Amino acid sequence: MSESIVIKNGTIINRTSQFVADVRISDGLVAEVGKNLKGDTQLDASGCIVCSGFVDLHAHLREPGKEEAETIETGSRAGALGGYTALVAMPNTDPPQDSVAVIDFVREQGKRAGLVDVVPSGCITLGRNGESLAPMAELAQAGVTFFTDDGNGVQDAALMRRALEYAKGLGVTLAQHCEVAELTKGAVMNECRCCTDLGLPGWPAIAEELMVFRDIELVRITGASMHFLHLSTKRSVELVRAGKRDGLPVTAEVTPHHLSLTEELLSSYNPVFKVNPPLRSAGDIQALKAGLLDGTIDAIATDHAPHPRRDKEMSLDMAPPGMLGLETALGVVLAEGGCEIRDIVALMSWNPAKIARIDKTHGCDVAVGNKANLCVFDPELTWSIDINRLASKSVNTPYLGRTLRGRVRHTIFNGSPTVIDGQARR
Ligand code: DOR
Repeated sequence: MSESIVIKNGTIINRTSQFVADVRISDGLVAEVGKNLKGDTQLDASGCIVCSGFVDLHAHLREPGKEEAETIETGSRAGALGGYTALVAMPNTDPPQDSVAVIDFVREQGKRAGLVDVVPSGCITLGRNGESLAPMAELAQAGVTFFTDDGNGVQDAALMRRALEYAKGLGVTLAQHCEVAELTKGAVMNECRCCTDLGLPGWPAIAEELMVFRDIELVRITGASMHFLHLSTKRSVELVRAGKRDGLPVTAEVTPHHLSLTEELLSSYNPVFKVNPPLRSAGDIQALKAGLLDGTIDAIATDHAPHPRRDKEMSLDMAPPGMLGLETALGVVLAEGGCEIRDIVALMSWNPAKIARIDKTHGCDVAVGNKANLCVFDPELTWSIDINRLASKSVNTPYLGRTLRGRVRHTIFNGSPTVIDGQARR
């Protein structure tokens, strides 16, 4: 028998219940849920929520190719600190995740770090160049269930239609980064009145919405399931809402930064606020929040996008888009997302586990016999970021100096603690 861990006195949130209890974990599984449980190690959870570990559908871990910004190990540690037990690794690595060799490498590095399940996504097109399909069947055979060219949208509608037809046969999900590239050339920030005043090239909402519209129609004729990454505009939410109303198998995510930060921040000309898609208006935020509340948006995903300091110190037009997200997602969403705690568990754990098709091992209720992939967080604790203590290798967080609410206390991955009392295992 392996050592047992007991999480004491937490409020367990499951799909159809909520109650205070202890949880005993042994051999990687939840062994007992009840009162006055004993174990070799005790973790206090009084005042805390105990739920299934978070699942991020959208993490850029940068390895292979950009280890200067992040490695699978540092990204996994950042994830564990954020309460995550699974991260879907985005494919815009170098080389990109379009071959079994790279997929296996990413998965192995994840196992070696041993802090979260690293779930490699596969590219939709070879080299993410939008010209020909990646070997989707071969990648699916190697266990890939989630395909995307994230960082780029697939521009060619015929190619996207073919990808959806293959995806349907293979039983995998395609995820689209919605951006019509002709409309965003040189764009830096949301197209709005203040972008003209600031003299910054605008990134129109329609660049996203046209692709959301196109892909919903492609789903309608193919019947394949499709996930929309990082939606950022009011009209995108309306399109997905209408698609769902028609019974189409579409799902969508929003990032913590698109729920909490607005376009006006770009008036600082600080590249830390440059992101793709760009920060939008207060009206868009309102629509995204309404989408979370009525179930149009299924998941909150970080789009964790680490970049080396020197790249983010370039001028706004030259700096790469992207912001850190894994360590702050919960604190931002609890402080500013406008959702109930139960909704947050659904949006950050149950629903994304299903979308990534890993719901046998993640996003499961805290119940006897289920895998012990768990998150314990204090929903009231307020805190702010100490930039010197980030686990990520990069520091491009837009939340410096802001008060966040809700902090992860313990994370349990495969039955072992990866974070205890806010400290990550080294
Ligand atoms: O801001 C972003 N950064 N959006 C993306 O879609 C890609 C990401 C990156 O890889 O840096």
